[in-house]
Amino acid sequence: MEKIILTGDRPTGKLHLGHYVGSLKRRVELQNSGEFDRIFIMIADAQALTDNFDNPDKIRDNIIEVALDYLSAGLDPSKVNIFIQSQVEALTELTFYYMNLVTVSRLERNPTVKAEIQLRNFETSIPAGFFTYPVSQTSDITAFKATVVPVGEDQLPMIEQAREIVRKFNSLYGETLVEPEAFIPQNSVCSRLPGTDGKAKMSKSLGNCIYLSDPQDEVKKKVMSMFTDPGHLQVSDPGKIEGNTVFTYLDAFCHDEDFAEFCPDYKNLEEMKDHYRRGGLGDVKVKRFLINVLEKELAPIRARRAEYEKDIPAVYEILKKGTEAAKAAANATLADVKAAMRINYFDDAALIQGQQEKYNQK
Ligand code: TRP
Repeated sequence: MEKIILTGDRPTGKLHLGHYVGSLKRRVELQNSGEFDRIFIMIADAQALTDNFDNPDKIRDNIIEVALDYLSAGLDPSKVNIFIQSQVEALTELTFYYMNLVTVSRLERNPTVKAEIQLRNFETSIPAGFFTYPVSQTSDITAFKATVVPVGEDQLPMIEQAREIVRKFNSLYGETLVEPEAFIPQNSVCSRLPGTDGKAKMSKSLGNCIYLSDPQDEVKKKVMSMFTDPGHLQVSDPGKIEGNTVFTYLDAFCHDEDFAEFCPDYKNLEEMKDHYRRGGLGDVKVKRFLINVLEKELAPIRARRAEYEKDIPAVYEILKKGTEAAKAAANATLADVKAAMRINYFDDAALIQGQQEKYNQK
């Protein structure tokens, strides 16, 4: 069986460090591993519209932001197909048929949808499009016969839902669809990078994000004002590591080599943490180290972005090519699905012949 990746993001804003360690960085590694036959990366504008239908220009403008973030993070259009969800019509068509295979109460139990409904205060006025987006996400995954779906932890219920729909489809209509596996970061810090304020997650509305596209001085400013240990007032005070955002970010980003390069007082993060716990290590020193660690990762990303920003029409052309490849793949699956569901009337000569014979025997 071919090894195929499908994953994507909603274009509701620029991508930040949480997206980067949670998925983007891994995608680039998977792309370069040479282990996969095909890789599809989707800008999920249609899904983004399910809770932004009143603001289509926001989605429209963020498509190019996300595309630039992808390319600058190192996704290579000669190795992956980057495409725009709404332009692949087969996805909508598949969704309509998959709707028959899932119940309202099953959708109501989806923990991700539940949490999002609360977050958005939809309560009793949940838009049907939003409520059913897990079904549409099943189409995204199955249309490409994806075997591996690299996502953050919060997306696990979506993959589970997709697997259920695949099993139901195959048992009703015959083996047609491929059951996908989720692929989540092993490092739990990377799964859930907190915001710079120490709050649960980076989120645009909380204003606690460091964006991949932030200029260097912005990154410095944000790190310098990061939440640490409020009880660590003097350098000599013993400090806490748990819940200390600067150390959480170091857990996610730093390597032993970074100490030799930027902070040779310590061999590794454990030594630095020990010193902080004992007292005698100030926040500013740890923050300066984090700035260096982040810059090492972000500087090449920023440089690539600057190049792509010079030729935006070329970026749209990359999306157009990726979308064409995605359409071809999704149309092939749609044809399989329609044949399995016995709704391929005009492609089925045996059907037409068989119906004729029925009438001939009258
Ligand atoms: N729901 C995903 C998110 O919010 C985006 C997405 C849409 C996706 N379709 C997908 C992810 C298919 C993986 C596979 O980030």
